[in-house]
Amino acid sequence: MLSESNQRLLNGFLVLGLLLLIPVVSTLSHGKKKHDDDDKDDKKETVDTILSDSVQIIQDSVYAVININYQTVRHIFRKSCFDCHTDSTKYPWYHVLPFIGGLIDDDIKEAKEHLNMSDDFPFSGHATQIERLREIREEIEDGEMPLWSYRLTHWGLLIEGERQDSLFLWIDESIKLLKQLE
Ligand code: HEC
Repeated sequence: MLSESNQRLLNGFLVLGLLLLIPVVSTLSHGKKKHDDDDKDDKKETVDTILSDSVQIIQDSVYAVININYQTVRHIFRKSCFDCHTDSTKYPWYHVLPFIGGLIDDDIKEAKEHLNMSDDFPFSGHATQIERLREIREEIEDGEMPLWSYRLTHWGLLIEGERQDSLFLWIDESIKLLKQLE
């Protein structure tokens, strides 16, 4: 049984998944009418442009859908991950201490190279969107993130239970959509 919030999340994906088709269909039919009279070369170029525009539109739409659904789980990431994986770090008081402050800065710099969630989805960092989502899932599933050193001073931030279910649902559905782009 899906909880109510997960059901809402899934409905969001279904409805928005259908909306995805609209820009594609309208671009194709629009392009066809407009270029009926052009000569052959122009036509080929036009078809290529329409196709690459459509690919771009589909990709943007998929990212937009995923990002809209991301807003329903963003608070979970915000609480457990944003201090290191975004530009909006809330530093602890001991950040002013020599040495300790440097260690924290190094962690945050490295964390953001791997995964930066500052601008919502799509995230940036190493690897492809799908690989990054899989890594996030793995790190949470194995209890590796947030880092253990951070959890010494920030309790209760492991993502478990229902919060984990909602996040994984978002990740799994997002990967399914992203796979359609491949
Ligand atoms: C205290 C800082 C800190 C917090 C909080 C934190 N991370 Fe990280 N994260 C890091 C650092 C440092 C790295 C790079 C080194 C490593 O992989 O251990 C990293 C790497 C990662 C990677 C890339 C792993 C790889 O193998 O490339 C993922 C994915 C990730 N974190 C996800 C998360 C998620 C999800 C959360 C919240 C649940 C989170 N992190 C919270 C510091 C943090």
